[in-house]
Amino acid sequence: MEEWKKVETPCLVLDIEKTVANIERMQTICREHGVELRPHIKTHKMVEIAKMQLAAGAAGLTCAKISEAEALLPSGVKSVFVAHSIVDPLKGPRLKALSEKLDELFVGVTSAGQAQALEAVLAGVDLTLPVIMAIDTGLVREGTRTKEEGVALAKIIEDLPHLKLHGIYTHEGHAYKRAGEDRETVCREVLEQLLEIRKLIGNEDLKIWPGCSVTGACMATLLGVDAVRPGSYVFGDHSLAVRAKTMTWDQVSLTVLATVIDKPEAGLALIDAGSKVFSSDKTPEGQTAFAQDGRDIIISHFSEEHGFATGSDVDALQIGDKLTFVTAHVCPVLNLADKVVLLRDGRVDGRWAVEARGCSQ
Ligand SMILES: Cc1ncc(COP(=O)(O)O)c(C=O)c1O
Repeated sequence: MEEWKKVETPCLVLDIEKTVANIERMQTICREHGVELRPHIKTHKMVEIAKMQLAAGAAGLTCAKISEAEALLPSGVKSVFVAHSIVDPLKGPRLKALSEKLDELFVGVTSAGQAQALEAVLAGVDLTLPVIMAIDTGLVREGTRTKEEGVALAKIIEDLPHLKLHGIYTHEGHAYKRAGEDRETVCREVLEQLLEIRKLIGNEDLKIWPGCSVTGACMATLLGVDAVRPGSYVFGDHSLAVRAKTMTWDQVSLTVLATVIDKPEAGLALIDAGSKVFSSDKTPEGQTAFAQDGRDIIISHFSEEHGFATGSDVDALQIGDKLTFVTAHVCPVLNLADKVVLLRDGRVDGRWAVEARGCSQ
């Protein structure tokens, strides 16, 4: 067993060299095409990683929740986009305090009804903010569903005194489902929808912000895109390395180190990481995690504190063996850990806190 694996398990292991390379790859494409990179921090939730992204040239950070942005302020971030639907007056004072600590705070507007609710939140604390309106381009989550609705929403925003329309965003998460199709075709389809709505609104100054980890690198090369907001590219997982193929297996930089704790029957090994480590996210085929070293060892089932390892290489495992796993989807995994073990040059080099874990308010 490699020396560095003699750490207590289960734990998350962050390969620092690979992470730096993942950050640099996306940043280079954005830099070369004059597109802002505004990474979504929901994946890493860590001040140190945010610092690395900003030092590499990120224009700002995207987050889902106000508390994530609050937790990552020590990174020195000056521009934040809260890409969510804020409606609760309790959020008003927090938005105001956050805006005072930043140079720029953008918030999402996702429908006419939500725009009215956000107006009340901001009016309650006498705060005016630039907003980015959401267009649904196929995920069928937040955002206007038709061109007419998009144009009407822009008009509603114009009439609300505490909202200043700055741009248009979309989260094209459906690109994961279309991973087998030509990437540029998918990206162009999404972008066309955004550009068409901007044209109908009649304001070419509105910024265009699409771009997740599947589409981000391609979107950044397309004319008309102003910023992209990928999240999971920073570490990668099975969905990016195998399904979407936006990175190689070896570039995945965040893994779960677990110990084989029992072998109750042939064809089955139990490891000390279950749903409380891996989360409940699975691949469409129902798998949770995969041995990083390429052996046929797959976590296909779990209970809270046990992972059930199956596959043709499982019987060769010994009780006490430690192995690293690539996760099906990395984002919820970070939200379950207080800290990560840093791996630098093949050695353990301390631990970093996951400051924004659990920050869902
Ligand atoms: C609004 C928004 N932007 C960006 C992202 C980043 O997605 P990914 O992790 O696929 O890059 C997400 C992910 O859920 C999102 O909801």
